[in-house]
Amino acid sequence: MAAGLRVVLLGPPGAGKGTQAKFLQEHYGACQISTGDILRKAVAEQTPLGKEASGYINQGALVPDDLIVNLVAERLKENDCAPGFILDGFPRTIPQAQSLDEILKKMGMVLNGVLAVQVPQKVIVERLAGRRTCKGCGALYHLAFDPPKAVAVCDRCGGELVQRDDDREETIVARLKVYDTQTAPLVDYYRERNLLRSVDGVGTVDDIRNRIIQALGDVK
Ligand code: AP5
Repeated sequence: MAAGLRVVLLGPPGAGKGTQAKFLQEHYGACQISTGDILRKAVAEQTPLGKEASGYINQGALVPDDLIVNLVAERLKENDCAPGFILDGFPRTIPQAQSLDEILKKMGMVLNGVLAVQVPQKVIVERLAGRRTCKGCGALYHLAFDPPKAVAVCDRCGGELVQRDDDREETIVARLKVYDTQTAPLVDYYRERNLLRSVDGVGTVDDIRNRIIQALGDVK
């Protein structure tokens, strides 16, 4: 069995999955696979995938499983994922989780952990409403909790900071409902397989990082 980190970050929109995945990627030398980032890039580039996905994303709905599963299967084969991977935003349905099991089996691998990041709804709405993302390098900011030095300008690359279209209030509500009905059942799916590690997602970014590292302690 291959060594390395092979984990899923599970949690509602705004739980801090992307923020923590970027850190874990550096800390463990693993690749980050964010299906949301891949889809947003496809939408921006107006590829066939992007054209098909944009309607779902703008309504806060999930993109159909078959589109997502193939995309992840291909991404996992890339060289930067050989030392390990962090799945950020995938799987999001039970069929996606079953497909992931199959994909990994064919690659001779299994997951070695699923981190469920728990954050109450009030905190989620606050985080999503203040989120800004760099159009250039994808860096994440928050207007109150992690503001850029200059208004709307990325500290790292000078790119423009924008608000995601699906961070409008009505879409946030739709995304939270989708999470509860379609994604939350994965908590039991992974608990039954003894893979689940729960992490309190309220606190500073550093606090949560430390909790995640502790929760992953015996994984690597
Ligand atoms: P996706 O991009 O995956 O969105 P999401 O799961 O809703 O998660 P977010 O990116 O909104 O939040 P996050 O948990 O990463 O939080 P972040 O770190 O940014 O998916 C978007 C859409 O694509 C979906 O709705 C769907 O349509 C489609 N899609 C994607 N994957 C799919 C799949 N597998 N199947 C089908 N459809 C799919 O943090 C949020 C904010 O909080 C930031 O501003 C950050 O700076 C701040 N913050 C983070 N941590 C803290 C902290 N500890 N304290 C204070 N502020 C913090």
